[in-house]
Amino acid sequence: MKKSHLQYRLLKPFYNKEAKKMCNDFKNYITKGDKVLDLGCGSGIVANKIKSTFKVQVKGIDIIDMREVDIPFEIYDGKDLSFIKDNEFDVVLISYVLHHTGDLENILSQAKRIAKKHIIIYEDLNEGFFGKFYCLLHGKLYDWVFLKNNIPARFLSEKEWKELFKELNLDLIHSKEKKYKLSFVKRKAFILEKRVCSSAG
Ligand SMILES: C[S@@+](CC[C@H](N)C(=O)[O-])C[C@H]1O[C@@H](n2cnc3c(N)ncnc32)[C@H](O)[C@@H]1O
Repeated sequence: MKKSHLQYRLLKPFYNKEAKKMCNDFKNYITKGDKVLDLGCGSGIVANKIKSTFKVQVKGIDIIDMREVDIPFEIYDGKDLSFIKDNEFDVVLISYVLHHTGDLENILSQAKRIAKKHIIIYEDLNEGFFGKFYCLLHGKLYDWVFLKNNIPARFLSEKEWKELFKELNLDLIHSKEKKYKLSFVKRKAFILEKRVCSSAG
């Protein structure tokens, strides 16, 4: 684990409070004993909160190590998740990450292979004049400050997310708008389940 990042040192109370709220968002979808993968875990604060709240096993993966807390962790190339077995995790959390991945369809379909029960996604939505402006700025700034990999961020609208979930045969079983004071952008949590394909008939 590296030295604490300034952003986390300054905003620690906010991140902790937010992690607690997120656990409340998905309390019906994680159960004691589950294995949870936090894909793009960043600081690991959310994964760590999930671990203590639900008494589950967690693992974080990311393209860089930005951990502020000591959780099991692996770095990967940001594209290929074949080192994780089918259905290895009960739940895969992808929180404010997909827009940074370049090929978000690829990452989401691999998350579907890895998740046995649920995929939980948090995203900023590319909607409205100010929301679109925020997304543009956020994508560029994040890449410039942290990632430096020149992968342009790609934000979708709620309608585009829903179309993508349908294409990938993922059922949207719950969604929740995330409200933040002084925020320009609409944010949503999406909870997804794999569609059970019946061979009968
Ligand atoms: C805004 S942070 C979110 C961190 C954490 N999920 C949270 O909610 O606090 C975005 C994270 O996505 C990671 N990331 C970017 N591209 C990725 C990729 N292709 N696969 C996995 N993580 C990626 C970044 O390194 C960063 O940690």
